[in-house]
Amino acid sequence: MNIEQLKKIFDERYGSLPEAVYSSPGRVNLIGEHTDYNGGFVLPGAIDKGITLAFKVNEISKIRLYSVDYDESTEFGLAEADKPAQGWAKYVFGVIRELAKRGKTVSGFDAAFYGDVPLGAGLSSSAALESAFAFALNDVFALNVDSFELAKIGQATEHNYVGVKCGIMDQFASIFGKKGNLIRLDCRSLEYKYVPFNPVGYKVVLIDSCVKHELVNNPYNRRRESCETAAAAIRKRHPEVEFLRDASMDMLKEVKNEINDEDYMRAEFVIGEVKRLLDACDALEKDDYATVGKKMYETHEGLSKLYEVSCEELDFLNDCAKKYGVTGSRIMGGGFGGCTINLVEESKYDNFIAKTTVDYKTKFNIAPKVYDVVISDGARKAE
Ligand code: GLA
Repeated sequence: MNIEQLKKIFDERYGSLPEAVYSSPGRVNLIGEHTDYNGGFVLPGAIDKGITLAFKVNEISKIRLYSVDYDESTEFGLAEADKPAQGWAKYVFGVIRELAKRGKTVSGFDAAFYGDVPLGAGLSSSAALESAFAFALNDVFALNVDSFELAKIGQATEHNYVGVKCGIMDQFASIFGKKGNLIRLDCRSLEYKYVPFNPVGYKVVLIDSCVKHELVNNPYNRRRESCETAAAAIRKRHPEVEFLRDASMDMLKEVKNEINDEDYMRAEFVIGEVKRLLDACDALEKDDYATVGKKMYETHEGLSKLYEVSCEELDFLNDCAKKYGVTGSRIMGGGFGGCTINLVEESKYDNFIAKTTVDYKTKFNIAPKVYDVVISDGARKAE
C-alpha cells in the first residue's frame, strides 16, 4: 500500500479525492522500560513505519472511517454517547472526544487509513493511530493545540476510551520523533533532549517473536498499580517521593514488610531501570556501546525476573542474542509478547539473524520476523 493507492481507495469509497494525507510513526525504545508512568526517563525514537491517513471534511456531521488493513468501515457521531463498536475506531473516537473536552471541536469528516507498523509487536501501532488523527485534526481544523497536548490527548484516549493506563512515551515519540535522533524524555516534567543516534559499526534490529501482545484488560495496569502502591508506602516516610523515580533502593527496603512481595519486585525493577537509563545515556555520549549493551541485557533480566512481562519466546530470543555475540538485547515495550531490540556489531549481524531464525523456528515452529530500525521523523503532513 502506498499514498497513491490510499487516495484511490478514498475516492472510490467517498466519491472524491482526500484534501490531505497525514502520517505518524510507531516507536522503538533503546532503554528505560515501564519508567514513564513512574515519572522517570525513557529513550525512544520514532521509526519508519506507522499509520497513514487520507482525510476530507464532509457535510454530514458524522465521522466515516475506513480501515484498509481490516477492510472494515464505520460511521459515528461526535457526541460522547456515539462510541463506535469496533476496537480500532475507539482510538479515533477517543481523540475526538479528548479534543472536545479541551474545548476543541471538529466537524464531520471522512478518513481512510492503513498501517505498516506491525500490530501488537510492541511498536506502538495504537499511539501511531492516535497521533496521526490528533495531528491531522489539529491541522485541518486549525485547533492550535501544542505538540505536548497532542501527545497527552493520545495518552488520555488510551486511559479513557481503551482502558490502558499507559505512560506518555509512545505518543510523545510518535509526535516529537526526529530523524536520526533518540529522545531522552523526562516523563515527569516533559523536558526532552534529542540524542543523535548513529552507532558506527553497529546495527539496531528488532526480532519479532510473533507472540501477540495485548495490553487491554491485562496485567499492564496491574504493574502500574503495584508501582503506585510501593511509591505510596515509601512516601509515608519520605514525603518528597512523588513517583518511584524519586526513590532509592534503601527507601524501598525500609518498606519491605509493608508491601507484598510482588509489589516489591516491581518497584525494585523500576528503581534499577531509572538508574540504568541514566548510565546508558552517559555511555552513549562516549560512544561506549559495550556499556549500553550491558545495560540492555540487565534490563531484560529485570523485565523477565522482577517485572515479569517477558515470556518463554522472548527469553529464548534474548538467549540467542547472547549466544551469537550481540552487544545488547532486551524485550522492548510493554511486554507480554512483541519484539526484542538488539544492538549488534555489523560483522555479527548476518550470523545472528540466520542462526536465530533457524533456532527459533526449530523450537517454536514459527519464523520470527526481522525489522531493521530506521529512526525517523514524527507526525507530519505527507501531502
Ligand atoms: C507501553 C506503554 C508505554 C510504556 C511502555 C513500557 O508501550 O504504552 O507508556 O509504559 O509500555 O515502557
